[in-house]
Order: sequence, then C-alpha cells, then structure tokens
Amino acid sequence: MRVLSGIQPTGNLHLGNYLGAIRNWVRMQDEVAAKGGQSLYFLADLHSLSDHMTREARRDALTDMAAALVACGIDSTKSVLFNQARVPAHAELCWLLNGTARMGWLNRMTQWKDKAGKNRDGASVALFDYPVLQAADVLLYQTTHVPVGDDQKQHLELARDIAVKFNADTGREVFTLPEPTIPPAAARIMSLRDGQAKMSKSDPSDMSRINLTDDADTIAQKVRKAKTDPEPLPSEVAGLEGRAEAKNLVTIMAALDDRSADAVLAEYGGSQFGPFKAALAERLVVELSPIRERYLG
Ligand code: ADP
Ligand code: TRP
Repeated sequence: MRVLSGIQPTGNLHLGNYLGAIRNWVRMQDEVAAKGGQSLYFLADLHSLSDHMTREARRDALTDMAAALVACGIDSTKSVLFNQARVPAHAELCWLLNGTARMGWLNRMTQWKDKAGKNRDGASVALFDYPVLQAADVLLYQTTHVPVGDDQKQHLELARDIAVKFNADTGREVFTLPEPTIPPAAARIMSLRDGQAKMSKSDPSDMSRINLTDDADTIAQKVRKAKTDPEPLPSEVAGLEGRAEAKNLVTIMAALDDRSADAVLAEYGGSQFGPFKAALAERLVVELSPIRERYLG
C-alpha cells in the first residue's frame, strides 16, 4: 500500500480541505504505517506556478502550508513530507506523459473549465497541463491510494486513463492504477454563504469559509452568520432536500463527529438553527483550536 496526496501551497487551509482531505491524510498515515506501507504527502509548488505570485509570497505560502500540515498531525516520523519542486522527476515524468495524454481528455476537465473561464486563450499552458503533472505525481511512486476531496476525482480518473494508455502503448505494466480515497461524509463541504458553491480559498468572502487559523470568536461569528432558511431542522435526511445550506451545516456536524447525518438529525430534528449553530460552533472550536495553537506556537 502506498498513499500519496498533495496540496497547492496557496492561501490558508480551510475546513473543506481539512474534512475533505487532510484529516484523512493524518488517519491514513497511521493505518499505513501499521501495515508496513508508506505515505507520501507533498506541497504542489510546481502546480502553483500555473498562477502568478511573487517570489516572496510563494516562499511564505510554502512554509505556512508546511506548518499547517504539521499542525494538523502530519508526522515526519510516519510520512514523507516534501515539496514537489525538489524532486525533478515530477516535471520529467509530466513531459513523458504529455506524449500520452490527449487534448480532448484535458479539455473535458471541469477544474480547467472553471479556472480558465471564458478566457481560455489567456490561461497559462501550465493550467491546462495541470492534470498531467498531477498524474505524474501519482504514477511516479506506483501509488495505490490517493486521499482527496470529491473535486479531485476527475483528475484521478484521468491519471488512470493515462496509465492505462501508457501501459497499452508500451505493452508493459509500467504503472500501477491508483484508487482515489474520498471520505463519504465530507467529500464536498460547501460555502457558508452559498450552498451551491464549494468552500474554497479562492472565494473572495472570508465569511464563506472557516480557516484553520480562525479563533473561537471568529468561528462563532461565521457560523452564526452562515446562510440558512426559516424552517426548523428536519428529523430525517430526506427533509434536507432542496435546503443546501442546512444540509451543509448538518454535513459538517456529522463529519466532525464521524456520525451519519441521520444521527445528527435524530438529536437536533425540530430544533431552530440558533441552538444548532451554537452547538456546531462549539464543536468546531474543540476540533480546530488545538490545530490553531500548534500552528501559531
Ligand atoms: P481550494 O479549492 O480551496 O483551492 P485545493 O484545491 O487546494 O483547495 O484542495 C486541496 C484538497 O482539499 C483537495 O484534496 C481537495 O479535494 C480538498 N478540498 C478542497 N475544497 C474542499 C471542499 N470544499 N470540500 C471537501 N474537500 C475539499
Ligand atoms: N490538484 C490537487 C488540488 O488542487 C493537488 C494535487 C497535485 C494532488 N498533485 C496531486 C492531489 C497528486 C493528489 C495527488 O487539490
């Protein structure tokens, strides 16, 4: 078993990154070590070159993200934590795989379409080629499992397609096919301001996300102001249909407690949002304040 995942060193870690990916990295590193496997986690600094940043900002973002991962529990005695640019083979394998990947495959990537928007001609070539570099990251180490949030599923399917074609073209089993490991409960945490948009560091409104560096008051304020609707909480998950914001808050509570949304609703069904939000903020502070203290300390 070989586990690998990466994150771009840009901006702060937020609750979506934590529940969707990083918490799983930390859990898997223990499981994998117990089974004699290996875990590799890296800062995707080559990927971050698809966007412009000054040299200083890039350097600061790299050290901040490394500190945040260590604060979340990535332990260098159990996992290898590194930055991608230090291993030239990532860029080299990307170039080799560029011969295998097809333009049509990359054109279908939703992250490319979202990030390039209408101005495709003005987007960097690196942004277009981003998924091939990601395939190289994974295939380079014969990775078996890749813990990521739901939004990365399509990129991992592409990595598998590239591996299958490369193996077929060369007539040899050169690459292992990787499996994404996506947490069922927290695959996609949504913005606190808009239940249709994912929580993201690129959202201009800081009120849309909980950052791992937010203090208790900030967390309480963001949760209190999170968008909801006038109805009380339902007693069953079916009652969350068409109520994206309510569903998101219940999902967050369920993920924090490792229980089902139904179990959360069995406790809070019929309650107004006020008391539920207060309980959620308290639960978030319990989970995040030790991380924040390690990060700042
Ligand atoms: P962002 O979208 O904020 O820029 P990244 O793309 O750097 O975040 O994602 C890093 C990791 O966190 C990936 O594994 C991604 O799938 C996961 N992730 C990001 N946002 C969310 C979210 N809202 N819910 C669940 N997982 C997420
Ligand atoms: N594209 C991923 C993201 O935006 C980061 C990443 C780069 C990655 N290379 C990877 C994730 C390899 C898993 C495996 O979050």
